Amino acid sequence: MEFDMIIHNGLIVSDTTVLPLGNEIGVKNGKISCIGMSLPSGPKTERVDAEGAYITPGGVDAHVHLAQTNAPTGDTWETGSRSAIAGGTTTILAFASQKRTDTSLIPVLDDYYQKARGQSYADYGFHFILTNPTRDILQKEFPIMANEKGVTSVKLYMTYEPMKLTDRDLLDIMISCRALGLTTMIHAENSDMIALIIEGLERNGNTDPFYHAIARPRIAEDEASYRAISLAELVGAPILIVHMSSKVAVEHVRHAQARLLPIHAETCPHYLFLLSENLKSKPSDHFCGAMHVCSPPLRHRVEDLEDLWQGIANGTFTVFSSDHAPSKYDHPGGKKLGLVNGIPMFSKIPNGLPGVETRLALLFSESEACLPPAEARLSLPRFVQLTSTNPAKMYGLGGCKGSILPGYDADFVIWYPTSSDQAPTEITQKMLHHGVDYTPFEGVKIRNWPRYTILRGKVVWNRDSGKVLGEMTYGQYLKRGKGEVLVGKSSLTPRGMLDNERDMWMPKR
Ligand code: URP
Ligand code: ZN
Ligand code: ZN
Repeated sequence: MEFDMIIHNGLIVSDTTVLPLGNEIGVKNGKISCIGMSLPSGPKTERVDAEGAYITPGGVDAHVHLAQTNAPTGDTWETGSRSAIAGGTTTILAFASQKRTDTSLIPVLDDYYQKARGQSYADYGFHFILTNPTRDILQKEFPIMANEKGVTSVKLYMTYEPMKLTDRDLLDIMISCRALGLTTMIHAENSDMIALIIEGLERNGNTDPFYHAIARPRIAEDEASYRAISLAELVGAPILIVHMSSKVAVEHVRHAQARLLPIHAETCPHYLFLLSENLKSKPSDHFCGAMHVCSPPLRHRVEDLEDLWQGIANGTFTVFSSDHAPSKYDHPGGKKLGLVNGIPMFSKIPNGLPGVETRLALLFSESEACLPPAEARLSLPRFVQLTSTNPAKMYGLGGCKGSILPGYDADFVIWYPTSSDQAPTEITQKMLHHGVDYTPFEGVKIRNWPRYTILRGKVVWNRDSGKVLGEMTYGQYLKRGKGEVLVGKSSLTPRGMLDNERDMWMPKR
């Protein structure tokens, strides 16, 4: 058999180890065919020389907002997915967002799918954002989504007026998701605490962007995270708490994990690198803090960042996603919606930060690939777990995405060799490929960058030539299988309950 591509002279990183130099990757028909030494080339084999650099799986970014109807000024699928591959991410999972008035998910998925189809440089799938969980949806449409459409995860909000669900809704959905093997993602912030604070801030005229960080204190995330864990424990369901930013909330997760509950956690680059001081106004632009408005908000102290780095290193976090949620800054329908008659009103600023392109480089730069062991924040296998392998498994793409193993899609990032001085040293808006007009990471230091991105055996990004080489029609829709539970066990009896107590009331499907 003649390989289509052989990648040689690189250090292949898996979620458990780094293979020594000499191991090569043979690719055939877009799949990894084998890993071996001295693989034979044929006349048509494309040989890619990694020049001694690390080779990691193509990034899987499981939390990306693109072309959502409630955020119309940010990225299209074209710009968002282009940005993804230029940053080494080959798979993105975006959201199809149900409106409260939608009584069926089928047209919602169709609508979002039509926006993405033929418009994506990266492979992609969808999670649902569920805001109106009717009986019909849970009982009739969830099985269709899971078994026919390949949508095997939902995101639930405990905050935001147009989206938030009651605890009872959360319980009903968790029960349905558990029965079908769907992954439940939860945005955990206490809505009433936040509403009370916003009211008080506005009453006192405290409406600048910085007050967004005051309006959503850590305790709101801590309480809601603990509540989400308790609800999940009651019904024996696995969950993933998304975009975590607070030490105490992360401790709740860690304690739950220690009890073998299937509680997964996600954090994002901005909670590791950025502080709330970014939301303050500058003499040159009093509204610029809006560029850093996201929820949960950026926290106040360097120790807040440190606490999250600990969760990266000690295994509490299961996945590391961008939460790419793009809104243009200088656009009346974007962040400037928060300027009401010229007056800043933080509560009207669209939430979210762009970051799909910068996610991998930021984390890789803090790994042992770029720093001596004493300074490195994480090992290379841990980098691969967080950015590729775990999100692929959790969201039903195990066996196909997120690992460099025979039979998997030939999706890779080849980095610059450690000794190279070709990689950029700080992030600038100018170097990025998204459609947003700023990056919240402007000036943040990095130590490497994806030199090549390869998607299903095709080089789609070559930074040396400064080019996205892929095509907008190349990205494929991924029908996902059921997600794997990566932490603990489902169905454990909650503390203090009798072994068969839950069977007395749990609905049977
Ligand atoms: O601020 C954020 N994260 N906005 C995007 C929507 C969400 O809650 O993930
Ligand atoms: Zn969220
Ligand atoms: Zn989000």
